[in-house]
Amino acid sequence: MSDKRKELIVSAISNGTVIDHIPAESVFQVIKILGLDRTTNQLYFGTNLESKKYGRKGIIKVSEKWFEDIEINKIALVAPSATLIEIRDYEVVRKANVTIPESIERIVRCFNPNCITNKEDVPTKFTVIYDETGEMKLACHYCEKNTSKSNFSFV
Ligand code: CTP
Ligand code: ZN
Repeated sequence: MSDKRKELIVSAISNGTVIDHIPAESVFQVIKILGLDRTTNQLYFGTNLESKKYGRKGIIKVSEKWFEDIEINKIALVAPSATLIEIRDYEVVRKANVTIPESIERIVRCFNPNCITNKEDVPTKFTVIYDETGEMKLACHYCEKNTSKSNFSFV
């Protein structure tokens, strides 16, 4: 598929942010994590688009919005492959990859049903750790449990 066809699927923007190479199944989660479900800015998104590198990918474009690194890195949990592209006057002015942050607040629920964050109105807080196999886990700030990726459930 040519680049021209791709541009026809999701229109170019004049000013704002493009988040490309999102795993197809994570597009709606990324929209939610970034609060774009409540934006009043122009928002375009596509999912299940063809990608040479990723098979199926998603893309999000939001006009007149630029994200701080700390904000954009929140999506790394569900979209580690994502690229951040900043557009000014139709030109690409910055491209960056997302990086997994050292800690995660809110976003994910603690796997432990007895955790205070599941019993009371306490927002979750985790430290990102890696086990012996290199798998990423979230160590709860309040209880002794680690939540692994297969158990991620989003707030
Ligand atoms: N883009 C956009 N509006 C613009 C310029 C670019 O929405 N005014 C989008 C393009 O559709 C593309 C992304 O920003 O999805 C990156 O643009 P560019 O670097 O030109 O594309 P590629 O070279 O295809 O990037 P890559 O190979 O990293 O996918
Ligand atoms: Zn907990």
